[in-house]
Amino acid sequence: MDTAADITAMRRAITLAARGLGSTSPNPVVGCVILDAAGRQAGEGFHQRAGGPHAEIHALRAAGERARGGTAYVTLEPCNHTGRTGPCAQALIEAGVARVVYAVGDPNPQATGGADTLRAAGVKAEQGLLADEAEAGNVAWLTSVRLGRPYVLWKYAATLDGRIAAADATSRWITSPESRADVHRLRAEADAVVVGSGTARADDPQLGVRGIEGAVQPLRVVVDTGATTVRPGARVLDDTAPTLIAVADGADARHLPEGAVLRLPRAVTGPGLDIPALLTALYGRGIRSVLLEGGPTLAGAFVAAGTVDKVVGYLAPVLLGAGPAALADAGISTIADALRLDVTETVRIGPDLRITAVPGPARKGN
Ligand SMILES: NC(=O)c1ccc[n+]([C@@H]2O[C@H](COP(=O)([O-])OP(=O)(O)OC[C@H]3O[C@@H](n4cnc5c(N)ncnc54)[C@H](OP(=O)(O)O)[C@@H]3O)[C@@H](O)[C@H]2O)c1
Repeated sequence: MDTAADITAMRRAITLAARGLGSTSPNPVVGCVILDAAGRQAGEGFHQRAGGPHAEIHALRAAGERARGGTAYVTLEPCNHTGRTGPCAQALIEAGVARVVYAVGDPNPQATGGADTLRAAGVKAEQGLLADEAEAGNVAWLTSVRLGRPYVLWKYAATLDGRIAAADATSRWITSPESRADVHRLRAEADAVVVGSGTARADDPQLGVRGIEGAVQPLRVVVDTGATTVRPGARVLDDTAPTLIAVADGADARHLPEGAVLRLPRAVTGPGLDIPALLTALYGRGIRSVLLEGGPTLAGAFVAAGTVDKVVGYLAPVLLGAGPAALADAGISTIADALRLDVTETVRIGPDLRITAVPGPARKGN
């Protein structure tokens, strides 16, 4: 039976884990709280960056001798492998922890087995406390490891009549400064920000995180099939963050910095590059979460490929009456094929409304 103290400790661990969002990839975000044998808080910690100590190690260091006979609450099954840091299951055993409560099992084949190791050493190991909350906090990493591609959040900013730009292509600024600041938080939590060549051409976006102290800059990616859009001097090529320009295998990209060119096959059907190949390539570079910032044509291709895991729409109380819709052709021609979403959150952001939605169960795993 989980007690109120168990739940409080795990909820704290989940809160701590979230502090690592955007800086731990290719590792997950993990939080850990240790209570001593008398049930008093002894230590806590979270995984801060790949290559650094895991959450359990931070918490064990803080707890010291008080960990002996105590309970460790961890958002993810303690790892069992020696990567850049030692296995956490072993560290918990050596510290004399009597019980380990973890929320979600580790799907990573190289790291799993931590619970078995703990049990073999006589430590009580229990899975499942606040599993849904912990899973939600780590959804990008868990989804990416299960699917072998980054988790994709598509974000757009639209008028109340669903337009993302005016008829003359101007789109700055549909939403409020508050909404735009919120987008910088999304960027800070993502490993990569992706836009299409149409957006790069229209807006010359810089795509970096601004206004968030200590944020790790995401990789900036422009999908520019013919290597004709991003030219030297483009803001996305400044030296504030790494950048990749995804181009077709045969494209002439000599004007681009060599290290910034990512060569990919063309889409099997339709225009542009192969979206699954783009995501596989990013995954191979350690990218576990992508913030897709449009525009509508590229977003349509991602939806058509079944590779949008979450949608965040900022709706401004503005009407345009003409101009492109938030999403272009996504291969859906009849209402029976509409991609139906479940709304998970609606929030007022300044004068705007932020709606978060995820594909309904029928589309999950696509
Ligand atoms: N309000 C908002 O939230 C928001 C966000 C972003 C953009 N915008 C606005 O949207 C407009 C630009 O949108 P857009 O739809 O014209 O361009 P886009 O979606 O940014 O880029 C589309 C281009 O990406 C390239 N691409 C590469 N692979 C592709 C694939 N598999 N499928 C589809 N396209 C692929 C294609 O050009 P190539 O093959 O030639 O490379 C395609 O024309 C601008 O006015 C911008 O201001 C608004």
